[in-house]
Amino acid sequence: MNRGDVIIALDFPSAEAVYAFLDKFENESRKPFVKIGMELYYAAGPQIVREIKARGHKIFLDLKLHDIPNTVKRAMSVLRNLDVDMTNLHAAGTIDMMKAAIEGLTREDGTRPMLLAVTQLTSTSEERMQKELLINATMPETVKKYAQNAKEAGLDGVVCSPLEAALVKEACGAEFATVTPGIRFADGDVGDQVRVMTPEKARVGGSDYIVVGRPITQAEDPLAAYRRCVKEFLGE
Ligand code: C5P
Repeated sequence: MNRGDVIIALDFPSAEAVYAFLDKFENESRKPFVKIGMELYYAAGPQIVREIKARGHKIFLDLKLHDIPNTVKRAMSVLRNLDVDMTNLHAAGTIDMMKAAIEGLTREDGTRPMLLAVTQLTSTSEERMQKELLINATMPETVKKYAQNAKEAGLDGVVCSPLEAALVKEACGAEFATVTPGIRFADGDVGDQVRVMTPEKARVGGSDYIVVGRPITQAEDPLAAYRRCVKEFLGE
């Protein structure tokens, strides 16, 4: 089982807003693992990744690549130079695409960031998946199959709902990592998330890493909220 961590989703529109937030953690001995998504990456470019890395944070670059294998391989070979700790793609791109991504991501010394697959987005309902995507299976069957495909391609784990983490572990083994958003404190606002879990329940349910955005970024005291989350999730 992975030791895991709490990953803060840096869903901010600009570099200035991100730095104002990260400054609160400047004197923290445990620099948070952070997630950089499309909004920030497209607004601020690769430089923001380098700067946040230089501040001592581990980085999950959440760009969810999905294209033909050769294009994904080449894109990953660019991203590998950013020296992030974790990145991802859509399992829907097929096993060939996922294998090509690993080739592109692997550095000359054989090391590479953790590579995760998005199975079905949690915003996709089973009904829409069946009616619009013509996937003739249930959501759990689809998530399980996509996770197995990711494992077969050599990936390290999946991004999934905390409610699916146990299913993924059962299908792919304890070492196959689960990274789960949709986390809320027991006494917190749910916001637009529908199916949520507390940090503690997520851990018990099989999540190795939890991705937490607004419960930390919008808290009155983000540092205290982060510490609470780490305590509930890792018991530290
Ligand atoms: O603010 P909140 O804790 O809801 O943020 C969750 C983060 O995880 C956001 O960056 C969101 O885009 C991301 N995410 C998610 N559900 C998914 C995949 C990613 O909430 N299925």
